[in-house]
Amino acid sequence: MDDRKIAIIGCGNLGLSIVKGIIQHKDIPNNIVTATRRSLPKIQHLSASDINVTDNNKKAVKDARIVILSVKPYNILAVCEEIKDALSKHAIIVSTATGITISEMETVLGKDRTILRAMPNTAAGVGESLTCISDNGVEKEDYQIVEMLFSSIGTSIRIQEDLMDAATVLGACGIAFVMRFMRAMVQGGIQIGFDARTASEVVTQTVKGASTLIAAHGNHPEFEIDKVTTPKGCTIVGLNEMEHNGFSSSLIRGIVASHTKIEEDN
Ligand SMILES: NC(=O)c1ccc[n+]([C@@H]2O[C@H](COP(=O)([O-])OP(=O)(O)OC[C@H]3O[C@@H](n4cnc5c(N)ncnc54)[C@H](OP(=O)(O)O)[C@@H]3O)[C@@H](O)[C@H]2O)c1
Repeated sequence: MDDRKIAIIGCGNLGLSIVKGIIQHKDIPNNIVTATRRSLPKIQHLSASDINVTDNNKKAVKDARIVILSVKPYNILAVCEEIKDALSKHAIIVSTATGITISEMETVLGKDRTILRAMPNTAAGVGESLTCISDNGVEKEDYQIVEMLFSSIGTSIRIQEDLMDAATVLGACGIAFVMRFMRAMVQGGIQIGFDARTASEVVTQTVKGASTLIAAHGNHPEFEIDKVTTPKGCTIVGLNEMEHNGFSSSLIRGIVASHTKIEEDN
């Protein structure tokens, strides 16, 4: 068995982002990666980057050390059933599916399997994912292999499995929340005079700058806000108007609503 082979089952939005991240990361050879989906033509273009593509999941997982399952939650257990006899003894199975627990997967794959859950986001495609990882008590070396893989597409943190739904909302849905915030900023920018392209450029770099400030200094966001808010100035007037209209409250309620939806669905 090749100790480094990676199979990515279900290369849709997230699976493809992971593959793209791996392609950009020069330490992982592309030819050890096999990507699958049923509509093969949609991933055929990956062959040009030396990624193996197939619509045969059993073939893809044979000899693979890491098997990433990136199909929709309602397909996960059927895919586990399909591949279980083709998995090698030392395969590390990593599911990205929202809401499907490790113990549910164990009922199909068996309790002796090395199973982890990973919650990356679509920024994996540009090497900037934050991936939350939980596991069923795996060997240190197995965890390190998975951690190393997800480090190639961003950064990762280890969490308890009962926080996986929260990780889904904050980290994965979070991409959509931030995008909607950015879209609103661009719309506001156009109303005050910028053309759409310039507004988008200003917003994109401003969000990146704000994020980098927090990452670099580790300060509370409010500390950075205080530096921008001159007494009686335009920033505090804008911020307070947003709060009067429920800005923070609506974000918090949206996050809680997403979390409730995951709980209700499972
Ligand atoms: N999108 C995100 O930001 C994100 C973030 C974190 C976690 N997740 C989780 O990641 C998983 C994938 O999400 P997604 O947004 O990438 O969904 P998606 O775009 O629908 O991708 C899933 C892919 O799985 C393929 N598929 C379905 N059944 C298959 C099978 N039996 N064998 C091989 N491929 C199969 C589908 O393509 P075919 O129909 O062509 O086979 C589809 O392209 C979900 O469980 C989701 O909860 C997503």
